[in-house]
Amino acid sequence: MTKITIQSIKQLKHKPEPFAALTAYDYTSAQLVDRAGIPLILVGDSAAMVMMGYATTIPASMDEMLMLTAAVARGVQSALVVADMPFMSYQASVESAIQSAGDFIKKGSASAVKLEGGQHMVPQISAIVDCGIPVMGHVGLTPQSFHQMSGYRIQGKTGTAARTILQDALAVQSAGAFSIVLEGIPAELAEQITSELDIPTIGIGAGPHCDGQIQVFHDILGLGDFAPKHTRQFARLGALITDSVLQYKKDVASGKFTAGENYTHLSEKAQKTLSATDYGTDPKRS
Ligand code: KIV
Repeated sequence: MTKITIQSIKQLKHKPEPFAALTAYDYTSAQLVDRAGIPLILVGDSAAMVMMGYATTIPASMDEMLMLTAAVARGVQSALVVADMPFMSYQASVESAIQSAGDFIKKGSASAVKLEGGQHMVPQISAIVDCGIPVMGHVGLTPQSFHQMSGYRIQGKTGTAARTILQDALAVQSAGAFSIVLEGIPAELAEQITSELDIPTIGIGAGPHCDGQIQVFHDILGLGDFAPKHTRQFARLGALITDSVLQYKKDVASGKFTAGENYTHLSEKAQKTLSATDYGTDPKRS
């Protein structure tokens, strides 16, 4: 299996067909995604919602994200693993951003980090890149700014707002990012950003003109009760899992589960020893 590098991801910009990226949060799902040949796996802070049950991504902590990133990295042979920097692990200062990014590379075995924000995040992005750590940008609908945006709303709908997002994307690229997520913006804006940038754009709810698309593992597999408008469910694994667990429960209750003889038997000799009434020298049993 060839190892996907930053260089390989940058080259995807020049491919005629868009590429698919996906999130993963644990060893097993990372293995499955990697085996399907997905070149880029994001350990998204969406883990706060789909793995931990929070209403937003805001509560995700460094410790939690590091643990998930390390698990994903152990499951991946080929894909590039990108760790999502959680809220307040990089916003407060350039120093905190470098420290957090470094932890993801050293302790989480990620190959790159992602952070949200445009022009105001340029100092953080360039400082991290200067440390030799590749950065993926993220502009448009930035979920960590949930309160500032008054909820998850499509961004860049007016001419001025669209222009600001275009400038954000250009600033992120100039700061040294190797790729950029465009989330929740009108398709025409994503198209223009994609044509103006030299780095690959990866869209989520940003229309068909991005260089790649990224989705949340649980959303495309139908694992949760809720599916955002921008996703497509390729399976209904949630229902399949509940049905399988119900079947298991029924089979245990009916004895069918243990009727398969898929367990170990004692030898005749061991059985005799076990059922002997003389417990020898064991004081607790004599
Ligand atoms: O946290 C996340 O999963 C993301 C996406 C781009 C899907 O940031």
